[in-house]
Amino acid sequence: MAIVYIGSDHAGLGLKAALVEQLARKGHQVHDLGPATSESCDYPVYAKKVCEQVLAEARDAAPGDVPPAFGILICGTGIGMSMTANHIPGIRAALCGCEFQARATRMHNNANVLCLGERVTGPGVALDIASIFLDTDFEGGRHLRRVNQIEA
Ligand code: RB5
Repeated sequence: MAIVYIGSDHAGLGLKAALVEQLARKGHQVHDLGPATSESCDYPVYAKKVCEQVLAEARDAAPGDVPPAFGILICGTGIGMSMTANHIPGIRAALCGCEFQARATRMHNNANVLCLGERVTGPGVALDIASIFLDTDFEGGRHLRRVNQIEA
């Protein structure tokens, strides 16, 4: 089971609440970094909070290692969250809208952050995407060579 840091903005709050409950029920260790209310807020604030925790847990990890912790970021589209997260060195954030992307980004990109759009992806599909993301291993090999080139 995975350690998960999750955050959203106001537009991702409902999906965040659903995922916190359902992922915890599946046995994952979920840390909700906010927000706690539906008051309008700025997605970069929560993207950075979550990514800081993911990186703190990964201090001694190499790009090909199993991420010791994952992040999940949710805004209306998932786009603002993914733009912010991918600005942060060490973060490989994947905006996923289907199970295929979730599986492939773990197998091929060793993504450590999943981004979702509450206004795009329904709660049932989002839970399936998140579950597959957390349960799928990186394949390494030629994919590690490519992942290493991202920040080279
Ligand atoms: C908020 O209205 C919306 O702009 C935000 O949640 C997100 O979709 C930005 O990328």
